[in-house]
Amino acid sequence: MARGSQPSASLLLFSLGLVLLCFTSGSTVRLAEAQKTWCMAKPSSDEKVLQANINYACSNVSCAVIQPGGPCYNPNNLLSHTSVAMNLYYAANGRHSWNCYFADSGIVVKSDPSYGSCTYY
Ligand SMILES: *[C@@H]1O[C@H](CO)[C@@H](O)[C@H](O)[C@H]1NC(C)=O
Repeated sequence: MARGSQPSASLLLFSLGLVLLCFTSGSTVRLAEAQKTWCMAKPSSDEKVLQANINYACSNVSCAVIQPGGPCYNPNNLLSHTSVAMNLYYAANGRHSWNCYFADSGIVVKSDPSYGSCTYY
């Protein structure tokens, strides 16, 4: 019956549209991820500079992840904690290069610095 076949044809087109939509949004997400950047502390930075950075960043964003029991507490050292804090600040404020300057002690990286339980957002 010709009448009966009409709804299933539109259903087919609708499904096709959904599939195409998924493809389109999927590749957009992948593109955005390829261009994502993170902020880290330069390992050569002075301890006083690192301390100032962590104070500054953690007065702006929550640094709970580097507190004892947090997913980024280990390794428990100033450089690692400051890197995490600087990236939190960078991520929260728009990932602009100037959000990772920190008196030239920050470096923008293109590969995800996340490790173990600690996610760099
Ligand atoms: C965090 O820093 C940004 C950029 O300097 C600023 O615009 C924002 O108001 C600050 N937010 C808080 C909660 O301090």
